[in-house]
Amino acid sequence: MIIFTLYNFKGGVGKTTSCVNLAYLSARDGFKTLLWDLDPQSSATYYLGEEDSLNGSMKGLISQKKSFDHYIKPSQYPNLSYIPGHIKNRNIDVQLSTVDHFNKQFKSIKSDLKYQFDYVFIDCPPSLSHLANQIFKSAHFVLMPLIPTTLSERTYNQVLDHFKSQNFDVRKILPFFSLVDNRKNLHRSTMEHFRSTQPKVIRSIIPSSTEIEKMGINRAPVYTFSKNSEGSLAYRNLWQELKWFKKLSSQRTLSKRK
Ligand SMILES: Nc1ncnc2c1ncn2[C@@H]1O[C@H](COP(=O)(O)OP(=O)(O)OP(=O)(O)O)[C@@H](O)[C@H]1O
Ligand SMILES: [Mg+2]
Repeated sequence: MIIFTLYNFKGGVGKTTSCVNLAYLSARDGFKTLLWDLDPQSSATYYLGEEDSLNGSMKGLISQKKSFDHYIKPSQYPNLSYIPGHIKNRNIDVQLSTVDHFNKQFKSIKSDLKYQFDYVFIDCPPSLSHLANQIFKSAHFVLMPLIPTTLSERTYNQVLDHFKSQNFDVRKILPFFSLVDNRKNLHRSTMEHFRSTQPKVIRSIIPSSTEIEKMGINRAPVYTFSKNSEGSLAYRNLWQELKWFKKLSSQRTLSKRK
């Protein structure tokens, strides 16, 4: 089981959109997939066409009153389950900072998930919080969408510095470009400069696309209503590229064991 989390503390960069499309494509490939909507805005749940009704907030999970399975629901798509986001979770950070056993709890969640899913995609809210730290520790990869403008490299470096200061594994961070407009000089030159200075950038690029934007109207992954559009193709390329990281991750586990 591989956990990908979509993260950037900058808002509106395509985390949720990417999370929904990638989770859908993974399930479509026949992998048992979980989309975990951790954002109280619950946009991923909305884009998936599902409801954000939650049987109690995550507080029950943190306090160990409810099992993790209680939160997992089947989606309308085969192989795809989800944990809905909910506005009730807006204070989850405050709750987490007072719950010492959450580290342990998260480890046990991870081992539960291992037996049920091939891939887990977590949609994180745009904050650099206690919750984000917990996710950074637990996820195998942190997918970071970047809009190629002046501030993107700065944001990326801030996250990198944060990882170093917390002794998290920086190799987990996988940046990729999102909402790209190739007609803009600034976008092209920013991507070129970023690639020349950063060793590990995902090759697939997600363009700024009206079809992708229509996910908000259709409440569905772009593939389901515009299979052959540029945006749909871009997410398929991204997903193909990410599948290789499963291999990388198992190699890493092996080298840790040696
Ligand atoms: N590739 C794209 N092309 C066009 N519009 C896009 C694309 N990706 C995302 N959008 C639109 O941009 C907006 C922000 O996208 P999204 O909600 O995925 O960002 P986010 O990083 O999750 O935001 P937040 O930080 O608020 O959680 C949405 O209206 C979405 O429809
Ligand atoms: Mg979001």
